[in-house]
Amino acid sequence: MTTGQLPAVCRLADAELGKGYLSEADLLRTELQTLVASDSGSVIGFITCEIVTTSILRQQAGKLFNVLPAEFQLAGRLGKIGSLVVEKSRQQQGIGTCLLSAALEELARSVQRVFLLGWRSAKGTNVQPLARKLGFEQVAVIRNYWQEASQQQGYACPVCGAPPCHCSAVIFCKVL
Ligand SMILES: CC(C)(COP(=O)(O)OP(=O)(O)OC[C@H]1O[C@@H](n2cnc3c(N)ncnc32)[C@H](O)[C@@H]1OP(=O)(O)O)[C@@H](O)C(=O)NCCC(=O)NCCS
Repeated sequence: MTTGQLPAVCRLADAELGKGYLSEADLLRTELQTLVASDSGSVIGFITCEIVTTSILRQQAGKLFNVLPAEFQLAGRLGKIGSLVVEKSRQQQGIGTCLLSAALEELARSVQRVFLLGWRSAKGTNVQPLARKLGFEQVAVIRNYWQEASQQQGYACPVCGAPPCHCSAVIFCKVL
């Protein structure tokens, strides 16, 4: 992602994940890599990925750490796929598949195990067919995963509306 693409990535995140869910500051974190899909200079999708250490994950996201398979908990470092969004009018055209494949390729340079945080709303788990197609296995569902964050950050989930968000996180894992 270039600095010039940052506002468009934020707009896309606001529209599909909830206004304020991902801020410019979140996207500028040095550990985070954001890969962008564009067409004629316009941003039409993005994915975020990063390498996380299992010790930090255990401290900062215990709920998530606890549901990972033992071999992931003991791995030392893991790849994390956080957000994946494709502009509505461009969905179902293979762009999400390209973005997720590119992120896996990037993570494979540093780690052997990757997890993906899928979003399950009352409307379903959009990323599920894509995750399964690329070899991820579903390992757990954590209910009300974004409840606290939605209240603290004050963002409105596109499905639940005003906070609190009652969506679940579906945790998918893949060994590269
Ligand atoms: C999930 C998302 C990124 C998929 O992107 P996409 O570009 O449409 O995905 P692709 O075209 O590569 O499709 C991949 C597979 O998922 C299926 N699929 C795509 N969107 C789907 C949806 N909303 N519901 C169910 N299945 C879907 C496709 O049929 C395809 O399967 P196939 O190759 O066997 O036909 C996109 O729907 C999106 O941005 N949704 C809103 C935000 C969101 O939910 N992000 C996920 C957060 S974890």
